[in-house]
Formats: sequence, C-alpha cells, structure tokens
Amino acid sequence: MSDQLSEQLQQLTEELARSEDADALYEVRVRYLGKKGSITALRRQMGKLAPEDRKAFGQAFNAVKVEAERAIETRRDALVSAAREADLARHEDLSMPGAHERELGTLHPITQTRRALEDIFARMGFAVKEGPHIEDERYNFDKLNFQPGHPARDMQDTFFVRPRSDARLVLRTHTSPVQVRTMLAHEPPIRVVAPGTVFRKDDDATHSPMFHQLEGLFVDRHVTMADLKATLYRFVGEFFGEGLNVRLRPSYFPFVEPGAEVDMQCPFCREEASGASVGCGLCKGTTWIEIAGSGMVHPHVFESCGIDPERYTGWAFGLGLDRMAMLKYAVTHLRLFFDGDVRFLEQFPC
Ligand code: DAH
Repeated sequence: MSDQLSEQLQQLTEELARSEDADALYEVRVRYLGKKGSITALRRQMGKLAPEDRKAFGQAFNAVKVEAERAIETRRDALVSAAREADLARHEDLSMPGAHERELGTLHPITQTRRALEDIFARMGFAVKEGPHIEDERYNFDKLNFQPGHPARDMQDTFFVRPRSDARLVLRTHTSPVQVRTMLAHEPPIRVVAPGTVFRKDDDATHSPMFHQLEGLFVDRHVTMADLKATLYRFVGEFFGEGLNVRLRPSYFPFVEPGAEVDMQCPFCREEASGASVGCGLCKGTTWIEIAGSGMVHPHVFESCGIDPERYTGWAFGLGLDRMAMLKYAVTHLRLFFDGDVRFLEQFPC
C-alpha cells in the first residue's frame, strides 16, 4: 500500500515538472488529489487493511497528501517567478513603428461646413470672431433690444446659469451677442462673421438643445439692405453652386429694423434645364428653404454699443450652420450629426 503511495507521489512530481502553466497544475491536482483522484482513491483501500496496519497507513497517506500539496505549490511559485523574470527580461523597442497603420479620423461635417463658410466670408473681407458659450444676459438679450418680458427670456426657452457674482448668465441662445461684443470693442467699419454653438431648451425631431449658427455683421457708412442681399447671394453661389436664387421675407427680430427671413431656392428640386424649382419633400413643395434671419441693425442696438446711428448703418444675419450642412450633404436628420456614430461620420472624408 505505501509503495503505491510513494509511486503516486513520484508520478505526480514528474508530471508537475512537465506542467508549464496554471491550467496544467490544476489538472494535475484534480487527477491526483481531486475527489476521484488517484491518491484520494488509495485512502478508500484502508478498509481492506488489517486493523493494526491502519494507523501506519493513515499516517503515511496524510504525509503523502501534504507532500503532494506542497509540491504543487512549489511548482506554482516557480512558474510565477519564472514568468515574472521573463517579463522583466523583455526588451521592448518603443521607437519601433507600429505593426498596424493608425487610421486617421476626419473632421466632423459641421466643422467642415464651418470652415468652408469662414473661408467664403473671409474672401469677402469678413474677419472671424468667436464669443463665449456662457454669456452675460445683457449681451444675449438687453443690448440686443429684447424687452424685459420677451418670451426668449423665459426659463422654458433658455438655459440660465447659476451665477457666482451678480452677473446674470445664460448659455447663449444665439450667436448675436458676438455682434455686441464686437461693436463694444471696435469702431466701424466692422465686417465680421461669428460661428459657434448655441443652446435652447427645445428638443424634438427637428430641434436639438445644442446647435450651431454663423452670425454676420457689417457696419459702415451708407450700408444698405442691397449689400446684405448681394452678400448672401454670393455666399449661396459659392457654397451650393451658382444659380440658386435668394429672397428676403419681412420678419421680426428685436435687434433689427427692418427684419427679414432669408430663403434660398431649394437645391434639390431645381430643374437643370430651366433653372426653375419644381418643389420637393424637403422644401415641402414650396421650392424655397429658409436659411437665416437678418435685417438692418436697430438704432437701439447701435446706441447700447456706443455707435452713432445717425452716422452709421449696418446689417446682420444669423445663419443656421447645421442646416447648411444638412442641405450640402443631403442629410435628413439633424440628430445624425450629434450621435457620434462612426459609420455616419466616416462618410465625410476631408
Ligand atoms: N439671432 C436670431 C435667432 O437666433 C437670428 C438672427 C436674426 C440673427 C436676425 C441676426 C439677425 O443677426 O439680424 O433666431
């Protein structure tokens, strides 16, 4: 019996020497010491022994079991420290080029659109200006001639920011406060565009609480609405291709007088031969698409910014940047731009 015990121990030791990882060790352990293991099985034979031999066998069995456990642990320690040594001895050349070429991303379609618009207006002599996303309420509303009770100031429409001082702060609801900042800082002539992110509390299929605009402002002597229309016409021609018409429709914004919505001819339903629009789903059959608000800068706005309205005139517009991108790339849902889905974004290489 005890011969069998030492034989098993001998075999186990040899198998351990051949085991190279934790899985192999586990298997050896199960095979010898598990419930159905070969060493465990020998214990059951104790019953067959003469009673006087049982004690000696029991002691021998326990000693072998302890010895077997220890051998497994010793081998485990040896494997762990060998792995650690090997790891430490490893020399990595960190200056080697990578095995896989790294894929470069592309600029977001809204960024591409913003840059294209900036380029077009820069060629027409406009400087690019940026303003803060968290804006003083006076710049976002008061100095733009919004009366105290104007609905845009309602909590339902605007994100108000808890202030640290007595300044009243909002997430800007439009890029128009950059007009104020520019006029407070510079004497006319002024010719700027101000692209950027704006925030409103609407959120449905066609509105996102975060979207983008591009503001335009031109102030000088003898500036007229004809300059405005010519500039917008030029812009549409450059961005969408020549031949699309532009029209101004009377409208109201507190900071302009007169005010107008800007429509352009729908780029999707133009009949190539005649140049006439035929009406499609996008423009709801009207052949016109609204792209901006605009108007002649209100004298109150000039006054609140320290510019003499008797001496200067000017116009301003606010274009929907996301809408420009949707029309340019024929994207049907605004949300696609903001979901961050790589399969969508990859379609806009640059
Ligand atoms: N700020 C307006 C809006 O977000 C758009 C706008 C209208 C801008 C008329 C202008 C303007 O500069 O003259 O709805």
